Amino acid sequence: MAKNIAVLGNGYVGLLAAVGLADFGNTCVGVDVNQQKIDTLNAGKSPIYEPGVEEYLRRNLDSGRLRFTTDGGAAIRSSQVLFITVGTPQQEDGNADLTYLEQVVNTISQNINSYKVIVTKSTVPVGTNRWIQETIAKSGHIPGVDFDVVSNPEFLREGRATQDFFHPDRTVIGCESSRARTIMEDVYRALNLISVPFVWCGLETAELIKYASNAFLATKISFINEVANLAEAVGADVHQVARAMGMDGRISPKFLHFGPGYGGSCFPKDTAALVQLGNKHRIPLRVVSSAMEANHKQKERMLDKLEILVSRAFTLHTPTYSCNPLEGKTIAVLGLAFKQETDDIRESPALEIVKGLLVSGAAVKVHDPKAMENFSRIFPQITYCATPYDALEGAHAAVLATEWNEYRSLDLPRASQIMSRKIILDTRNMLNPTEALELGFLYDGVGRGSVGNPISQTSSAIHH
Ligand code: UGA
Repeated sequence: MAKNIAVLGNGYVGLLAAVGLADFGNTCVGVDVNQQKIDTLNAGKSPIYEPGVEEYLRRNLDSGRLRFTTDGGAAIRSSQVLFITVGTPQQEDGNADLTYLEQVVNTISQNINSYKVIVTKSTVPVGTNRWIQETIAKSGHIPGVDFDVVSNPEFLREGRATQDFFHPDRTVIGCESSRARTIMEDVYRALNLISVPFVWCGLETAELIKYASNAFLATKISFINEVANLAEAVGADVHQVARAMGMDGRISPKFLHFGPGYGGSCFPKDTAALVQLGNKHRIPLRVVSSAMEANHKQKERMLDKLEILVSRAFTLHTPTYSCNPLEGKTIAVLGLAFKQETDDIRESPALEIVKGLLVSGAAVKVHDPKAMENFSRIFPQITYCATPYDALEGAHAAVLATEWNEYRSLDLPRASQIMSRKIILDTRNMLNPTEALELGFLYDGVGRGSVGNPISQTSSAIHH
């Protein structure tokens, strides 16, 4: 039987949960403290860019199974299942900030009026669901009114979130009561019907599955990034290395794409939180700590590569150049989002690159199909361009920082005519290096030690 569900917090995870659970046939009310966001959502517009989400939003608003409100208390009282989907941002010490979660738990305690299943979808430190259970039990809510706490981590990828919501690899449910289990089976009946595997487990196990999964994927990326750096030094092609490694079923080809380092709102935050958890329990997570450090270095390495390219180009033509090769140069950065198909710039490698360029005294022109508005809130002083070619016009060098499809087919002959110097750093290995070299570009990618690129011989010098 379909359920009445309140989804508390309508950020990224909450919006997808509200829309997706309504599409499964449940009746959902999305709750957020931000009135403007609620108005936007009720008007059928998504506050975030995510392919497909607006279509599902409108469809479910039209069906009458979905609405949004700021009245959290009323939504809680009229729903049997409460999904907690507030943000848990990273604090300076690496721990997750649970302020929003605490506020929601407080509102639940004040409004619980009948049996509820309280489902945590936010990524929370191991032990948080147990804490929610104890806090509500101790809160003096109406005596005799029962509730259960369930941990249901989400594994959506930004840019593919609708697809991931409706066709997940697995659904993990930490649930320790048969009453709550029957209700969760109803909530997710639609997934059961398409044979999505369910993992039923304890609360702490579900919480750890989420962190361990993200930390493993982040480690996999850092691993291949370091192999890519080594490939540059020894003259190997990391494309072939990764491809052949991925053919081993035990390794799998996924998340073996090397580049400028991982970003986004999840991997950096969740790896840091996992390491903190390990420290708290005196179980040092050395592998994850190293993956984090390698990622940080990888982001820095992109700037080092650019400096080498630019200084090489300029010493060839001008024997005396400033000791900082980027000073006074105009650099075009194509791609600001942390990955393609999103407007999210959190922890994006482009942030590090642009920050470094500005510190070096370079002028920066940028383009991104979706993320310029978000980026301009942090860097209002740089030039935002309507097309990649506007950004390239007159630039001394270009950095490709996000793997948007439109950059894959960049018109290199046109770029070679409009740029002031022909220098490209392709941090996502999107371009054909042979074409770039034939057009006279000084080109560098990541892990391409065997493309006849002079930079590959010097890149082994980029070590920290
Ligand atoms: C990640 C996980 O993939 C999701 O399963 C999880 O639900 C989500 O975090 C979360 O915890 O909410 P997301 O951050 O949206 O999803 O993006 P990914 O596609 O995982 O990419 C993360 C970063 O890794 C990006 O910067 C991407 O460019 C980079 N990446 C990814 C690589 O550098 N190489 C790869 O092979 C894959």
